[in-house]
Amino acid sequence: MTSAMNQPTERPAGFQGYVHQSQAREDEELTHVDHGTSCGEYLRRFWQPVAMSSELGELPLVVKILGEELVLFRDKSNSVGLLHKHCAHRGASLEYGIIAERGIICCYHGWHYDVDGTLIRAGSERLDSPICKNVVQGAYPVTEKDGILFTYMGPPDKRPDFPEYDTQHLPGVERIPFSLTTPCNWLQVYENTQDPIHVLHLHTRSSGVQFGVASGVDQIIEYETSPTGMINIQTRQVEEYTWVRTVEAILPNANQTGAIWEEAEAEKYFQRTAILRWMVPIDNFSTRTIGWRDYSSETDPRDQGDRSLVGKESIDFVGQTEDERSYHERQQQPGDFEAQVSQRPIAIHARENLASSDSGVARLRQLLRGHVRNVAKGNDPPQPPRGYKGWVSTYTQDTVYPITLDALQRQEFGRAVADTVLETGDLNHENRTRSVKKRCKKYVPPTS
Ligand code: FES
Ligand SMILES: [Fe+2]
Repeated sequence: MTSAMNQPTERPAGFQGYVHQSQAREDEELTHVDHGTSCGEYLRRFWQPVAMSSELGELPLVVKILGEELVLFRDKSNSVGLLHKHCAHRGASLEYGIIAERGIICCYHGWHYDVDGTLIRAGSERLDSPICKNVVQGAYPVTEKDGILFTYMGPPDKRPDFPEYDTQHLPGVERIPFSLTTPCNWLQVYENTQDPIHVLHLHTRSSGVQFGVASGVDQIIEYETSPTGMINIQTRQVEEYTWVRTVEAILPNANQTGAIWEEAEAEKYFQRTAILRWMVPIDNFSTRTIGWRDYSSETDPRDQGDRSLVGKESIDFVGQTEDERSYHERQQQPGDFEAQVSQRPIAIHARENLASSDSGVARLRQLLRGHVRNVAKGNDPPQPPRGYKGWVSTYTQDTVYPITLDALQRQEFGRAVADTVLETGDLNHENRTRSVKKRCKKYVPPTS
């Protein structure tokens, strides 16, 4: 904290409300997501979660993603279709369609579409009608994984292989799908993951301890580029332990986060994640976070999580939705939802005053902008590299090591652990854990 001695002596004059007005607009390049926008085209080059499997029942489901209105359904042969909402005949919504053995039949004149959008039968038209050769309903491919439906909405010839992540293959982990809607632009939800200083302020000082007590301990924060995007490195001294947490942004819009209630009270190495999630734009003004909440005895030793709370518009930690608490409670103890939504429907970067503790946010924006511009030039964006067994190697972890260090040593130690995590992406979990442990044991604080 800045002491009174260090306060700048010259400050701008106060009471400048009338003068301090701005007509600045949002940063369209990173926040607008419709088809044809630069960011929208970038995001469309990756598989994105569109719904949880549990949302699909006997009737079609209207979904909106990246500004597009679509209809999602499971046909009677168990194939999933994701089609443009308005029928290619005369525009009736397929949300009223009849689900068939194969595909869906528009309610209005019976045009029958397969899950890939091709026309099987054009209602009362002759079977050999040329219309079947000329008309196709817009459709996107869908892949289902552990209770979440993913789609690819980019150019058909650029579809990447569906990625699987290393943390999806850890034994002893129970994974429960969830989704949360936040009525603001996707970027302000996403960049929260590279803004670790807010844990100290929002989740500890402003609202009381909302997560682990240890997460409120002052931290040294650094940032590093990773093969999937970037990580932040948070290093804290918690009693006799030094705790190194790395939290990653998997570009373009995924994140993994460590144990929600980590207390850094026992030695551990390379403990993996409690959440893998995607912040998916519904449109420019709203975001649907979809992902898995992961449970293991490792990440939740006190059994503080509540699986029964995890699902549609619900999660088992505070401050993520509007409905869970009264406005009064949310004012008294705001959480991520209140902070993010209140940044405006689309945060206006030109009105911000970024400080040194925002360097993660600035770096994330810079990385995204580079990729967005690269795609706009006609290049392909990098897909997350595949490591052991062809899975995407990821870099979120917690290491807690019994050592007491001063601030400089802590920074050095945190960096050493993070470097090992970054360098071992090709190894399996056991070998990465072993490497991190070895690196910790090898660490000798420099003598001053
Ligand atoms: S509008 Fe769909 S079949 Fe006519
Ligand atoms: Fe937060």
